[in-house]
Amino acid sequence: MKIIACNSNRPLSEAIAAYLKLPLTEASVRRFSDMECFVEIHENVRGEDVFIIQSTSYPANDHLMELLVALDAVRRGSASRITAVMPYFGYARQDRKSGPRTPISAKLVANLITVAGADRVLTMDLHAGQIQGFFDIPLDNLFAAPVFIRHIEENFDHDDLIMVSPDVGGVVRARAFAKRLGTDLAIIDKRRERAGVSEVMHIIGDVKDRTCILVDDIVDSGGTLCNAAEALKEAGAKSVHAYITHGVLSGGAVSRVSSSPLESMVITDSILGTEAVRVASNIQQISIAPLMGEAIERISDARSVSSLFD
Ligand code: R5P
Repeated sequence: MKIIACNSNRPLSEAIAAYLKLPLTEASVRRFSDMECFVEIHENVRGEDVFIIQSTSYPANDHLMELLVALDAVRRGSASRITAVMPYFGYARQDRKSGPRTPISAKLVANLITVAGADRVLTMDLHAGQIQGFFDIPLDNLFAAPVFIRHIEENFDHDDLIMVSPDVGGVVRARAFAKRLGTDLAIIDKRRERAGVSEVMHIIGDVKDRTCILVDDIVDSGGTLCNAAEALKEAGAKSVHAYITHGVLSGGAVSRVSSSPLESMVITDSILGTEAVRVASNIQQISIAPLMGEAIERISDARSVSSLFD
């Protein structure tokens, strides 16, 4: 087995390699002066089971292109099987035509990854499970839930806990947490009554005097989460916390989260945290390296991956 790290999240790649007790394969991923990217693998990969680790996080297009070029390099180096390991699969929110003459970019990215040479994909908490069907190669979609649930059990008293979905689209995910933890579930329903008028938040469920845990797959601008936290506090929540798989955190998201009513927000390291994330007092990153590493080992040994979540 060979593990190759592209540039998006070197610390996570190193942690995965450490879990597998393997060195990262010697490779250079660099830029020409016009920013074209160039990949060179410095070790023989002929006949190897190769895993290329790359999240398509900011700058998303550069990181996607690095992955495609690395896949091509390894395919032309005659690897026997190549797995694109994408802890964060970007472009997933563009998973349907949102209007006339708009793209389905998630499908386009799936095609690009396949054509570049991936034989399979390993990712985590895909924005929509159906994106698996955009690939005609096997895709394993891991869940951060077991890592988060362990953290919740270690840090919260069960008595007044309630899981909250910040929007209707996230109900299935929040319900799975509530079921595993044996807690109640609340749902935030956002509605814009008229164009140009700000959204009204309706909370389905009683959150008064409860410790609310918001669960979502992505925090990007932080708008969804911070608005939800404010609505929960206004409805009498005792405290509000969040568990979010992918900390995209673009623009002023970190300062928005820092000044929000969120007492804590736990994200994974699927995306490398910026300095602002590391110093934010209410943001904590926990590692998915052991989970990713275990999944890679099982794929390589042709053992069950789904049983990781039984
Ligand atoms: C939406 O369907 C997603 O699950 C997230 O709620 C959304 O992407 C978060 O975006 P933002 O932080 O920009 O509100």
